[in-house]
Amino acid sequence: MRPGMPEPAGEAAVRPYRPADRAAVYDVCVRTADAGGDARGRWSTDDLMPDLFAGPYVDLEPERAFVLDDGGQVVGYVLGTADTAGFVAAWRERWLPRLADRYPAPPDPPRTPEEAMTALLHRPERMLLPELAGHPAHLHVDLLPAVQGAGWGRALIETFCAAVAAAGAPGVNLGVDPANNRALGFYARLGFTEIAVPGATGVVYLGRPTT
Ligand SMILES: CC(C)(COP(=O)(O)OP(=O)(O)OC[C@H]1O[C@@H](n2cnc3c(N)ncnc32)[C@H](O)[C@@H]1OP(=O)(O)O)[C@@H](O)C(=O)NCCC(=O)NCCS
Repeated sequence: MRPGMPEPAGEAAVRPYRPADRAAVYDVCVRTADAGGDARGRWSTDDLMPDLFAGPYVDLEPERAFVLDDGGQVVGYVLGTADTAGFVAAWRERWLPRLADRYPAPPDPPRTPEEAMTALLHRPERMLLPELAGHPAHLHVDLLPAVQGAGWGRALIETFCAAVAAAGAPGVNLGVDPANNRALGFYARLGFTEIAVPGATGVVYLGRPTT
């Protein structure tokens, strides 16, 4: 631990995801889903953000998920895929059918922020951008506030990059809310650079080699 950094309470360590972690991963997700801040109460259900940004990863590609375990409590994670194209196909075939009743397809174009979110569920092909093709892996990383700023974000990203590099992915991409200045500074420090995607609104795409 570096001087001046907050220390996690227990014996924190990064370890592979286990199915028993699923509810805790959902909880970390919603608590960090509002440009890095707490999104509980913001949407019609607190499951909406995790159903978009956590559930599909831990259920469809659990071998690419890692958690920060602090004395038996999951306080952070990195989730993602080594192969966005394959993940998109799995989302359409196996994830969307499980949730389509809970989140009916919204009108096109969506009329409300909630509809814009459920549109993401119904159109996983939105992730297939030609500009991102050279970075076939993608990820999501989130830590509860108590363990932020202590090096665990870096540890999670490096763990994920090693895993997807071993699976053959030369590069990783991710999307950031442009209002999330802290995350933008973090990713820049870790060597991510912007990938220009003409027409993208409300998201900045970043990429990095995995090795
Ligand atoms: C963003 C987040 C994942 C970063 O993880 P973290 O554990 O807080 O960051 P780390 O302590 O591992 O920082 C790693 C390095 O980045 C640097 N860094 C972190 N934030 C920075 C910033 N805003 N500007 C510049 N450098 C920054 C650190 O100083 C550290 O540098 P070093 O390793 O060379 O000493 C974490 O703060 C978080 O989960 N935030 C809330 C959820 C979120 O926003 N997730 C991202 C959504 S896209």
